[in-house]
Amino acid sequence: MAMPRTLHLLLLLVAMALVVSCSPMPTSVLATKRRQAMDEAAAARIHALRPLRGSGRELASRGGVACDSWALGVEAHNVRDWKTVPASCEGYVGHYMLGSHYRRDSQVVVDEAVAYAETLKLAGNGKEVWVFDIDETTLSNLPYYANHGFGTKPFNATSFNAYVLEGSAPALPETRRLYSKLVSIGVKPVFLTGRTEDQRAVTVANLRRQGFSGWMNLLLKQPGFKGSAVAYKSGERQKLQDAGYAIVGNIGDQWSDILGAPEGARTFKLPDPMYYIG
Ligand SMILES: *[C@@H]1O[C@H](CO)[C@@H](O)[C@H](O)[C@H]1NC(C)=O
Ligand SMILES: [Mg+2]
Repeated sequence: MAMPRTLHLLLLLVAMALVVSCSPMPTSVLATKRRQAMDEAAAARIHALRPLRGSGRELASRGGVACDSWALGVEAHNVRDWKTVPASCEGYVGHYMLGSHYRRDSQVVVDEAVAYAETLKLAGNGKEVWVFDIDETTLSNLPYYANHGFGTKPFNATSFNAYVLEGSAPALPETRRLYSKLVSIGVKPVFLTGRTEDQRAVTVANLRRQGFSGWMNLLLKQPGFKGSAVAYKSGERQKLQDAGYAIVGNIGDQWSDILGAPEGARTFKLPDPMYYIG
């Protein structure tokens, strides 16, 4: 039986209307756009500073300072004795620290340190130690520096010490990975820090809270010590060595952590573009 021509046309129109209204295209595109906008709004709330391109290639040359080149100069210890991060590099350093770049760079350092630790032929006499710095090596003061211009402002001992006394500094996760590895193979961690003896209790509590335990020694600066960081730290390492310990490794974020004999059989430098301690 032949279908009347008008009915045929009507059915075709109805079918087309159904296809159009059921088509997933327009509504899903809208939903995706809406979701993207929400993600972006949420990300902006979580990280007020978000990496624009890597750690900010576009930002790097603002204000006449090539911030990525400056930071490389700092890491290589060509740029020395600086007091503050160049003002025009606050954005660059902020993006570096809060984005994934800092973590990635730290991961390379720790991967090398772990690979080195695995090659050690340990005597197993309990005399092999690894020296760890604390600030920006074991514990991160990024919550403080994020509120104080990422190192662009002169160091304020009053407000920084108040932050330290909170005992709330988070662990640097890559360093904690190295620490656990060393403990598991029988190398004893020794903390050697520029923090002062009066900060011992809060430092111990902070370290324990962040999952560190089983260290052999926590060496803090004694009241009245006047010398440089290099003199202090190398002097303490010398005492360890004189007491019969073998310093198989040494890790810190400052060159003053790893310069000055005895340095340790191998040294590892973590990134720190926020401050310089000579
Ligand atoms: C240092 O920090 C303290 C405590 O927040 C503040 O009272 C003081 O004004 C600061 N000093 C300078 C020079 O900014
Ligand atoms: Mg440090």
